[in-house]
Amino acid sequence: MSQLTTDSFKAITELFHRISGIKLVESKHALVQSRLQKLSLEAGETDINIFVQKMVRGQMPEELLVSVVDKLTTNETYFFREPQHFEDLVRRAQGQGDGGEFLVWSGASSSGEEAYSIAMVLADKLGMNPSSRPWSIRGTDLSTAVVESARQGLYPMDRARNVPADYLRRFCLQGFGPYEGQLLINRELRSRVQFQCANLMQPLPPLPMFDVIFLRNVLIYFDGPAKTAIVSRVMERLKPGGVLYPGHAESLASLGLPLKAIAPAIYQHA
Ligand SMILES: C[S@@+](CC[C@H](N)C(=O)[O-])C[C@H]1O[C@@H](n2cnc3c(N)ncnc32)[C@H](O)[C@@H]1O
Repeated sequence: MSQLTTDSFKAITELFHRISGIKLVESKHALVQSRLQKLSLEAGETDINIFVQKMVRGQMPEELLVSVVDKLTTNETYFFREPQHFEDLVRRAQGQGDGGEFLVWSGASSSGEEAYSIAMVLADKLGMNPSSRPWSIRGTDLSTAVVESARQGLYPMDRARNVPADYLRRFCLQGFGPYEGQLLINRELRSRVQFQCANLMQPLPPLPMFDVIFLRNVLIYFDGPAKTAIVSRVMERLKPGGVLYPGHAESLASLGLPLKAIAPAIYQHA
């Protein structure tokens, strides 16, 4: 199999940057090569550099470009990541609010663990029956592959290690037969979470106004101007007084936006 040249690396990462806003630096060369190699072979191209050339010139089918973007995004996530946000979420969900539907957006939802963690907490604290306060969750991501897998809500059992035992019992089904070793988020919980593709670098699809927005572990991939553009776009969907949670390593303080830091990694729409 051929090696990805420096020129091809530059060409494919520039294309990826134009689409996603994410810059992949030269130290990711081997990673990019290994992630694209299989795609190249599947497309019937044994020379990865020709594959890249055709991709950049728009001579490959659109679905392959989608697969390239899927392969080059980093989708690491897990249930109940950065738990302090879930504690804050409970306080807000149980607070007065406007009394209407409590709406939460997971703005880079990856394979859905974050959105389903939110759903478990809200199902527990607000309930699921018609007399309780209504709530629902949107999950969006750039990658079509992770959006599809989030919709399924099927995970290897070992991914559930942070899910409280009580939530596992109430909201997850244990797989058997061909699904041995997997868990499925139950249908009722899945019905409260809607996933769709959305690129944070482009105008957003129609979305409601949210009480809480999770925008975690995605801003780290962008430079200052892209970060500002993304956060301002996302804030247009945040209710006044609503809160935005970036990841704990992602400060929004220097962006000059009307956001007030009210606790570590918790910002309120001023
Ligand atoms: C590391 S995961 C974080 C998932 C989850 N929020 C968490 O904290 O566990 C980052 C996600 O951001 C998505 N992403 C990257 N660039 C994006 C963009 N321009 N628009 C929307 N999502 C993007 C990736 O596809 C990936 O699923």
